[in-house]
Amino acid sequence: MTVPPAADAQGADAQGADVSSAVRPAPLPPSLEWVGAIDGELHALDQSLLPHERVVLKLRTADDVADAILRLAIRGAPIIGVAAAYGLYLGVRAIAPEGPASLDTARHVAAMLLATRPTAVNLRWALDRCLSRMRKDHDVASLLAEAARIDRENAEATFAIARNGAELVHDGATILTHCNAGPLACGGIGTALGCLIEAHRRGTRFSVLADETRPLLQGARLTALELAAEGIPVAVIPDSAASAMIARGAVQAVFVGADRIASNGDFANKIGTYSIALAASVHRIPFYVVAPMSTFDGALAHGQQIPIEERAATEVLTLMGSSIAAAGIDARNPAFDVSPAALATAFVTDQGILRPPFAPAIKAALAACR
Ligand code: MRU
Repeated sequence: MTVPPAADAQGADAQGADVSSAVRPAPLPPSLEWVGAIDGELHALDQSLLPHERVVLKLRTADDVADAILRLAIRGAPIIGVAAAYGLYLGVRAIAPEGPASLDTARHVAAMLLATRPTAVNLRWALDRCLSRMRKDHDVASLLAEAARIDRENAEATFAIARNGAELVHDGATILTHCNAGPLACGGIGTALGCLIEAHRRGTRFSVLADETRPLLQGARLTALELAAEGIPVAVIPDSAASAMIARGAVQAVFVGADRIASNGDFANKIGTYSIALAASVHRIPFYVVAPMSTFDGALAHGQQIPIEERAATEVLTLMGSSIAAAGIDARNPAFDVSPAALATAFVTDQGILRPPFAPAIKAALAACR
C-alpha cells in the first residue's frame, strides 16, 4: 500500500465550502451559565436538541443536573465537570439552605452526580475539588464559590489551550476532527475546536472534515454548527470515510478532545477515535489530543484501567427517533475507546504542548498544576 506523505497532498482534497454570511448560523449562547446569586439556578443550553432548537434548561436541583448529564443535554468532558460542581451546590443547598452543611450530605449528593457518566474524569475531578473545599469550610456558600472558580478556571484553560494549539494549524490544511470538543462541550473557546477557532481568528486559512460521530451524531449536529458559526469551512463525513480520506492524502492533521488520559498517555475519547488514530499513524499525519489538565488522571498507570461507559442499545438501533433495525435485534453501544499513547503526536494542554516521552511530560505538567 502506498502511504502518501501529508506534505504532498497539502489541501488537495479539501471539501469544505466557504461559510457565506447568508448561511452562517447565529452565534451560540454559552452551554452553561450560573444565573443569580446564592439562590440562583444553572442555565444549560440543551445540546440534545441542537442544531434545530435552542432551548435553555433552568436547573434548580442536583437531580435536574444529573438528569441533564445523563441524557446528554449537558455533555462533553470539561463541561460536565463544571455542571457537576454547580449540581453539588444545588443538592447541598436543598438540604442545608443556610450556613453549615455536613460533609456527609455533600458526599451523598456527589456520589449521585458521579454515577451519571463513568469515563470523563473531569466529573470526579470537579466534585473532589468541591468536597475538599467543604472539608476546609463547611459553609454552603463556599461550595457555590468553588463551582464558580472551577467554571472560570476551566474557561481560562480553554483559551490557553487554544493559543498553544493554534500554532499547529497550517494554511491550506484540511483538518479532521471526531465528536465534539468545542465551546459547547468544554466552555470557553473549546479544546480541539478551540485550537481551530483561534487559528481561524489569527487568519490561518484551512478547512475541516467533521466525522458525523455515530450513534448520537455530535460531529454532524454540534461540531459542524460551531465551526460554521465561526465562519470556518466544514464538511461532515460518515465516520466510516475517515480512514479512506486519510489514506488518499485528504487530511493533513487530526485534532480530537479526550475524556480521560492515563499517566502514560493512553487516552479515552469518543468511540471511533482509535481507528482514526491508527490510520493517522500508518499514513504519518499528526494526531493531536487536546484537553485541559483536569482530563489527566494521574492515578491511572495506563488506559486499560479507564472505565468505558456502555450506553443504551436504543441509541444504536434508532436514528433521530426512528427504528433502523428489525424488531428484537440487539446492539452494543460502548461510548468511548482507548488509544495507546504511541498513537498521539502530542497533547495540547493549558500547560503547553506535551511531546514524547509522555509519562515524564504528563507528570511534570500535573505537578505544575498543584
Ligand atoms: O458527547 P459525549 O459527552 O458522550 O462525548 C464526550 C466528548 O465530548 C468527546 O469524547 C470529546 O471528543 C472529548 S470531551 C470534549
